[in-house]
Amino acid sequence: MSTQQQKVAIVTGASQGIGATLVEGYRKLGFAVVATSRTIAPADDDGVLTVQGDIADPATAERVVAAAVERFGRIDTVVNNAGIFVAKPFTDYTAADYAAVTGINVAGFFHLTQQAVPHLLAQGGGHIVSITTSLVDSPDARVPSVLASLTKGGLQSATKSLAIEYATRGIRVNAVSPGTIKTPMHAAETHEFLAALHPVGRMGEVSDIVDAVLFLETAPFVTGEILHVDGGMSAGH
Ligand SMILES: NC(=O)c1ccc[n+]([C@@H]2O[C@H](COP(=O)([O-])OP(=O)(O)OC[C@H]3O[C@@H](n4cnc5c(N)ncnc54)[C@H](OP(=O)(O)O)[C@@H]3O)[C@@H](O)[C@H]2O)c1
Repeated sequence: MSTQQQKVAIVTGASQGIGATLVEGYRKLGFAVVATSRTIAPADDDGVLTVQGDIADPATAERVVAAAVERFGRIDTVVNNAGIFVAKPFTDYTAADYAAVTGINVAGFFHLTQQAVPHLLAQGGGHIVSITTSLVDSPDARVPSVLASLTKGGLQSATKSLAIEYATRGIRVNAVSPGTIKTPMHAAETHEFLAALHPVGRMGEVSDIVDAVLFLETAPFVTGEILHVDGGMSAGH
């Protein structure tokens, strides 16, 4: 066990949107945070170390993990939040779309999580949480997006698989599956259309997703859970 008492979370996609607020949320829980994205700026807060890099590149995972251990001495939590969403009819997707979406959503999850796990085990356990999408379990004819389902569906299955693989070794593995959330991902002129996709008739807020992640962080008996935070989307239409 490390002599460092403060827990440490890595948050990907942390420059804006859900990721930026996750950094604040983990700080309020008392964690130090390593925040990463391609363009993230240095933080004013001593408890936040920022590392720039493309999460699809395995070298970024190595640099992020090394920086966390060097600066803070341990890793307890990995939040796989970096992700992109490209919605198109199936046959309109290009090879570049496929490479970009699988690179960020899947390779980004795989390399960082794999590199971090030995450090979680060294603490006697930890938490891995990924942000997926409600479209995995509830595809919608109005939003054709098979690359979201292919990649985030893979993350949901991997969440359950890793939860079982590490259940007796103290690592919990969970996912939050959002509906459509008001972030820079969605231009304001699309909000009315997007709101109508939800049974509750509105989009979600960033705080809805951050609260769900922080609930999972502090729920020691919850592992292998896909927590839908989607205004009823996964219940039906
Ligand atoms: N907003 C929604 O409606 C919604 C719904 C369902 C699921 N989600 C999921 O929630 C997560 C966060 O979404 P968001 O809405 O907050 O997204 P966002 O506002 O578009 O932010 C995406 C973040 O990912 C980073 N990023 C993008 N490409 C990257 C790359 N190649 N390498 C490293 N970082 C990269 C961006 O930073 P840089 O540009 O600095 O790299 C940014 O910090 C994503 O996984 C998304 O799929 C969102």
